[in-house]
Amino acid sequence: MARPLLQVALDHSDLQGAIKAAVSVGHEVDVIEAGTVCLLQVGSELVEVLRSLFPEKTIVADTKCADAGGTVAKNNAVRGADWMTCICSATIPTMKAALKAIKEVRGDKGEIQVELYGDWTYEQAQQWLDAGISQAIYHQSRDALLAGETWGEKDLNKVKKLIEMGFRVSVTGGLSTETLKLFKGVDVFTFIAGRGITEAENPAQAAREFKEEIAKYWSE
Ligand code: 5RP
Ligand code: MG
Repeated sequence: MARPLLQVALDHSDLQGAIKAAVSVGHEVDVIEAGTVCLLQVGSELVEVLRSLFPEKTIVADTKCADAGGTVAKNNAVRGADWMTCICSATIPTMKAALKAIKEVRGDKGEIQVELYGDWTYEQAQQWLDAGISQAIYHQSRDALLAGETWGEKDLNKVKKLIEMGFRVSVTGGLSTETLKLFKGVDVFTFIAGRGITEAENPAQAAREFKEEIAKYWSE
């Protein structure tokens, strides 16, 4: 079982805040995410800045794309995104178009990740795999967490089942270092943390603490 990667999500409401956070934590993490909140504010310029700051890192555009997959993927890929997210309710043609476009620009590095929110089925998940998409993001929504939802056994079971099906599964949504141990023994691909890193007093130290916690439960 490989050690899970650490991804930081930059969900700032302004470009400067996102860039400042990226500069302080970018070198501590494996993957840098242009977060949905910031993309909606400033557009894919954020992706372009991240790519120029971190030419060697994997950059994700968390567009949660629902339609026009080919155009949205191309726009983000030319600015430097390796991976882009599609919402699970997008149609298969949207996902296929996004995958084709991102691969045309980024080559083998280009991937689409399906963001799992709300209702979805394992039959749909099989269709995503059949369409060539093998990354899924298991997400506890920010609003659901604020409304009192917590991480638990039900989430673990879904994550495990998706992994068994053949997905590389990332996990996200209000993660703290304490949440990670819940996934001990599970072949998580990437832990994605936003506020747990960027809103810490010392974001770089917080990122290191996430990595140390991951290393406690997953050997290399
Ligand atoms: C919200 C997102 C966030 O990027 C993701 O949930 C990580 O942020 P946080 O750790 O602050 O919840 O995609 O839709
Ligand atoms: Mg995100």
